[in-house]
Amino acid sequence: MSENNIIKKVTTQTLQQMKDSGEKISMLTCYDYSTAKIFDAAGIDVILVGDSLGNVMLGYPTTLPVTVDNMITYAASVVRAVKRAFVVVDMPFGSYQGDANLAVSNAVRIMKETGCQAVKIEGGQEIEASFKAILSAGIPIMGHLGLTPQSVNKFGGYGLRAKGSEEAQQLFQNAQLLQDYGCFSVVLEKIPAHLATEVTKTLSIPTIGIGAGNECDGQVLVYQDMMGITDMALPKFVRKYGNLGQYMSNVVSEYISDVKSGAFPSSEESY
Ligand code: KIV
Repeated sequence: MSENNIIKKVTTQTLQQMKDSGEKISMLTCYDYSTAKIFDAAGIDVILVGDSLGNVMLGYPTTLPVTVDNMITYAASVVRAVKRAFVVVDMPFGSYQGDANLAVSNAVRIMKETGCQAVKIEGGQEIEASFKAILSAGIPIMGHLGLTPQSVNKFGGYGLRAKGSEEAQQLFQNAQLLQDYGCFSVVLEKIPAHLATEVTKTLSIPTIGIGAGNECDGQVLVYQDMMGITDMALPKFVRKYGNLGQYMSNVVSEYISDVKSGAFPSSEESY
């Protein structure tokens, strides 16, 4: 293989350099081998194996039932496909809150059994002990502030977060704390754009926005949402880049029709 063909893996250092040089970071969720291969070859910088797999892959109404075993099965398949992208795996609800020893042992399991590069956890100062324990094991953490779906029952829904000055101030302080703990990046979900801009300008680590305006250092979307596979009503921050759901439905209809009529398989497709 010539030197030009060697694929340079994206690392936490690459992501920091991207922030420092003003190059935006592209990130999408992904949960399986075949799709991860396509995203990686297309040049996506970061793949998040999000616990949103609870919704889009497993059909749960929230992310709360997702287990560490679920995350490991999907994430390992993604890692097997990826050559270049940085792969981050969500720690699911109950796997890191309240017990720092449990947090570190679950994070170690995820790293060992998937081969991913980092974990993502939701929250701020209230889970300081878990942040510190995981980071002390040498595991990079991407934080997640704002709308944190694992706290849906506390928030009472998936509405905009940090609208008021008190919650905005708290989010700002938490973002600074995550950087001080040693997180390499932080996701800001569904917060006012001006607040995300302020956080992005203040932090030296990259921010990744989802429903947080366009001044973040990068953007992430759930891939089924942006591809037009999801049939649910989507929040306004999702841009639909495709209509894959309709395309797949048309393809399946054509196949059904060919099977029913006997047009498939042809003699060329037979032995
Ligand atoms: O689980 C997920 O997909 C996420 C993104 C929405 C950031 O956490």
